[in-house]
Formats: sequence, C-alpha cells, structure tokens
Amino acid sequence: MSKRVAIIGAGVSGLTSIKCCLEEDLEPTCFEQSNDIGGLWRFTENIEEHRASIYNSVITNTSKEMMCFSDFPMPEDFPVFLHNSKFLEYLRLYVDHFNLLKYIKFNTSVLHIEKAKDYSTTGQWTVVTEKDGKQECCTFDAVMICTGHQIEAYMPLESFPGLEKFKGNVFHSRYYKNPEGLEGKTVVIIGMGNSAADIAVETCRKAKKVYISTRGGTWVMSRVYDSGFPWDTVFHTRFNNVLRNSLTWLLLRWLTEKKMNQWFNHENYGLVPRNRSLMKEPVFNDDLPSRILYGAVKVKPLVKEFTESSAIFDDGTVEENVDVIIFATGYTVAFPFLDKSLIEVEDNCVPLYKHVFPPHLEKPTLAFIGLIQPLGPVMPTAELQARWATRVFKGLSSLPPESTMVTDIIKRNEKRIKWFGTSRSQSIQTDFITYVDELAVELGSKPNLLMLLLKDPKLALTIFFGACSPFQFRLRGPAKWAGARNAILTQKERIVKATKTRVVDKPSDHNLFSLLKILGLLVLLTAVFFALAQPFSSPSNATVMD
Ligand SMILES: Cc1cc2nc3c(=O)[nH]c(=O)nc-3n(C[C@H](O)[C@H](O)[C@H](O)COP(=O)(O)OP(=O)(O)OC[C@H]3O[C@@H](n4cnc5c(N)ncnc54)[C@H](O)[C@@H]3O)c2cc1C
Ligand SMILES: *[C@@H]1O[C@H](CO)[C@@H](O)[C@H](O)[C@H]1NC(C)=O
Ligand SMILES: *[C@@H]1O[C@H](CO)[C@@H](O)[C@H](O)[C@H]1NC(C)=O
Ligand SMILES: *[C@@H]1O[C@H](CO)[C@@H](O)[C@H](O)[C@H]1NC(C)=O
Repeated sequence: MSKRVAIIGAGVSGLTSIKCCLEEDLEPTCFEQSNDIGGLWRFTENIEEHRASIYNSVITNTSKEMMCFSDFPMPEDFPVFLHNSKFLEYLRLYVDHFNLLKYIKFNTSVLHIEKAKDYSTTGQWTVVTEKDGKQECCTFDAVMICTGHQIEAYMPLESFPGLEKFKGNVFHSRYYKNPEGLEGKTVVIIGMGNSAADIAVETCRKAKKVYISTRGGTWVMSRVYDSGFPWDTVFHTRFNNVLRNSLTWLLLRWLTEKKMNQWFNHENYGLVPRNRSLMKEPVFNDDLPSRILYGAVKVKPLVKEFTESSAIFDDGTVEENVDVIIFATGYTVAFPFLDKSLIEVEDNCVPLYKHVFPPHLEKPTLAFIGLIQPLGPVMPTAELQARWATRVFKGLSSLPPESTMVTDIIKRNEKRIKWFGTSRSQSIQTDFITYVDELAVELGSKPNLLMLLLKDPKLALTIFFGACSPFQFRLRGPAKWAGARNAILTQKERIVKATKTRVVDKPSDHNLFSLLKILGLLVLLTAVFFALAQPFSSPSNATVMD
C-alpha cells in the first residue's frame, strides 16, 4: 500500500507538493482552509484571517520562464511578468493539466498536528482538521507544511513612540487593496520593501503627499534588464553564478554597486543601503525613481516619533498633517498548529535542514515546503524541495545524522548573514542557483554539463550561458520530462514572442551591419596577430638574436 501524505495549504507550494507525491506514487491529501486554490495569488477584496492578502496591482517580480514549474511552461501568449490574476490562471492550468483538484479538501482548516502514538516506529502523524465546525482526526505517514509565510502581519508598534496618540488611520500593507480613499491625503509609508515601493508609486497619483520612511535604504532594480531582457533571465545564469562565487568579496561588492547605480545613483535619491557590505535583496520597481524625480514620492529616514497629527523623522524634519500611516513592515513566520517542541521560530528564523527538514526528529516524515525567499522564483524552488522531500519519505534518499544537519544549519545561517545581513526581512533569504542545485544533487537531477558538452553541445551551452530556467532539472533523474530539452532551447524565443507583438521589418541597414561585423573581425584578427607577434619584436628578444 502506498504511503499517505498530508499536505497543508493549496498555494504554489501545496499544489506542486501534490504533483510530486503523485510522481513518487504516494497518496496525497491536501487540506485548504479557504474555498479555492492559489493561496497568496488569489486576490480577493475581503481579507481572510489565515490567508495572505495582496493588493490589486501586484505584478510578479520574477519572469514567466523562470517562475513556472519545471515540466509545465507558461502559454506562449502570457506576458513576461504577470499580473496576479494571470499567474493564478497559470496555477489553474497546472491543476487541470495534472488533475490535482481531486486531492484537495477545501474549507478544511488544519488545527493541530502531532506525533501519532507509535511515531517512534512508524514516523506517523495525527492531523486534526475542521470543516463546517466539525473536527476530524486522521493518521498520515508523512506531512508537508505548505502554509506560506506572508500571512501574519508584523507591526513593530512599540518602536514608534507617540503612535498611540496619532489620530489618523494606521494599517498594515496587508490591508491595502487599492489607492481608493487616499485622495488628497498625506501618507507616510514605513518600510522599504517591494510592497512599500508599489504602494508609494500607486498612491502618489491620488494622494497629496507620499513619504517612504526607511531606516536601511535599499537597491532598486528594474524588471527590464540588459537589452530589455527580464532581469532574472540575465542575472540567474550559471555563468554569472560561477563568476559571483569565484570573485573576491570586495570586487563582487564593487561590481554589484556599480551595476545597481547604472540606472540611477542611489545616493542622490536617498536610497543607498546603509550597510553596504550586504547583497540585500533589491526592490523591484520600474517607476519609483521617476516618482522621486517628479517629487511625488519623498524618501525619508525612520520616524522618531509621532504626535496626534505629525511625524517627526530621525533627521529632525517634521511632516505636519499626516492622515495615513501604512506599515509595509513585512510578516512573521508562524505555525499555530504545531507544538513548539517540533519547530521553534526564533528571530523569524526557522532552523531547518536545507530549509526543509527539522533536524531533531527521529523520523524524517515532516517537511516544510516554500519556507524560503530565494533571490529568484519561489515556484521551481518549492518544487525541488517537494521532489526531494517525497524521495526522503519513501526512503530513496536519506538525511545525514542530526549533528551534521545542525552544523549545516549554523553554517548556512552564517553565510546568509554575510550575504544578506541580519535584517528581519531577510531571515529566510538564500541565493537561487546554488540552493536549487544543492536540492537537485539530492535527487540526481542536476544537469551534467561536462557530459552534455560532449553529447549535446548546443544544449550544454544554453544551460551554462542562458537563463537557469526550471526545465534544466527535468533532463535527468526521477520524473524526467521529455519536453525539457526543447523548452530550454526555445525559452529565449518565447520571451521575445511575448513582447514582439508587431511584425518588425528587418533593418534596412542589414548590409551595413554585416560589413561592420566583418570589419570588426578584421580589427580583432589584426590585434591578435600583433599580440602574438609582440614577443619576437621585443627588445629582450632582439638582444638574444644579436
Ligand atoms: C506581494 C507579493 C508578491 C510576490 N511576488 C512573487 C514573485 O513575483 N515571484 C515569486 O517567486 N514569489 C513571489 N512572492 C512570494 C510568495 O510567497 C510565493 O510566490 C508563493 O505565493 C508562496 O506560496 P505558498 O504556497 O508557499 O504560500 P501561500 O500562497 O501563502 O499559500 C498558503 C496556503 O495555505 C493555506 N493555509 C494556511 N494555514 C492553513 C491551515 N491551518 N489549514 C489549511 N490551510 C491553511 C492558506 O489558505 C493558503 O492557501 C510574492 C509575495 C508577495 C507577498
Ligand atoms: C466552501 O464554503 C463555501 C462557503 O463559504 C461554499 O460556497 C463552498 O461550496 C464550499 N466548498 C466546499 C468544497 O465545501
Ligand atoms: C518578490 O516580492 C515579494 C514580495 O515583496 C518578495 O517576498 C520576494 O522575495 C520578491 N522576489 C524577489 C526575487 O525579489
Ligand atoms: C553590516 O553588516 C555586517 C554583516 O552583517 C555587520 O558585521 C556590520 O556590523 C554591519 N555594519 C553596520 C554599519 O551596520
């Protein structure tokens, strides 16, 4: 009989976990407390208690070829970056295609998860659920927690003296849906993440004044990168990753700053990150710099104190007549249905082996999926976690001893702090390619570039120099996908197709261009020739010949 797996949540992580269970012949049951799939990506006007809540205008900050699941590319006509409703549409296509709906129990909350009576021999868990006020208790061979981490609003009210006296409106970005109601108002936004920037850009068209108040500052990046390609398809190539991992820290930092300041000088815009030794996750916003140029958004330091109607900033400046304060201060990771002895969240950090397994359990039958913030797309990352976890459940892959896992967790945390800093918002941050490769090694699905270079050089070069898209992890190993090779070789075409929606004439100066190319080649050859000829004409050689 196949093992039964409980999956908690039907967002991105839960859906791919169902699919991965099916790949490994496990029997999944997914519990979703709301009445539909999508988790965070299903926008609703009303705010549900245990589900993430987004604003109407959320657009993905990762591109479609990077954020799809590894065996299911997005339809060709989808845009490169997607409105949240479009991404939800993709999730529905995924669910339909792999027939996942029948494994999901909607309107069913998980209240409690605990070790079953004979856990120490079977590794089983008891899951208590509630539907329509009725509780039920079931036993499962393994559990996958896919409940997300952007649910519980974090509002550090205590660090803002005087806030209790403030007469205006105060709320968390979770409660922001659109700029309605902010017409003519003076708005102070606390925080400098993606949400803060999005809300500032959107509200400044209607509000009287908009301030962003930030302690640390941030790098702001455009989604539109070199030659107009989506940032992540250029940033996340294996070639660039090798470079980043082999450069010295100082050089890497220098190059990063140079690149970040290419678009606009972050110092002149008051945005430059305070702690420059860090590769803090950037904010993706194409409009913020222009709004700052128009004077529609002003960047301020932290608020020192609030009064009934004003904000006093750290630099002593005062803004009178503030109407609204929005806390875009992020979220707290929480698992209300788990006992503290199973997992202890400290400083918003969750100590998990490779971000998936609690290290101290006797049996590796409890996995956390999607509890991660890679400097890239969450979807393929969660998918690889789930592929690995299901192999571990089946005993096809095993975990090292507890002490090894604990050491690994400590080391990983030190590296995170070195790269991304100690900021709360980066508590589950990791880099992308290095981490997904690590998971892929566990599965045996990391592409073997040397072998490919001999067998299929075109593919090998695209994998190394092209975008590190999820399809790379379906070329070999368990649950290979026959379409992976073709998907990799055509990914660039698909990106261009989405924007090249008008037939463009071939440039008329085509001949001139070829001529230039030939000329360039000639110059290069001449340069090489002279470089090679150099030693023979150098003075030292001349003396020898004398
Ligand atoms: C504004 C915003 C934009 C983002 N943009 C991107 C992006 O462009 N690219 C990217 O890769 N990532 C992005 N992210 C990160 C995001 O976390 C992931 O994209 C992804 O949504 C995480 O999915 P998840 O399934 O882990 O969690 P969620 O989507 O939060 O789903 C969790 C599900 O679990 C259910 N649940 C919770 N508790 C229980 C319970 N006790 N019982 C039963 N069900 C329960 C919830 O109802 C929900 O459906 C963004 C995040 C935010 C906030
Ligand atoms: C879930 O509850 C809603 C009402 O809250 C109801 O309309 C829907 O039919 C229910 N779905 C299931 C699958 O029970
Ligand atoms: C995209 O935005 C969300 C919400 O702010 C954030 O959690 C995620 O880390 C961002 N992704 C990247 C790659 O910056
Ligand atoms: C910057 O971050 C590093 C690494 O976290 C830390 O050691 C250093 O003290 C920080 N510097 C400042 C000025 O905060």
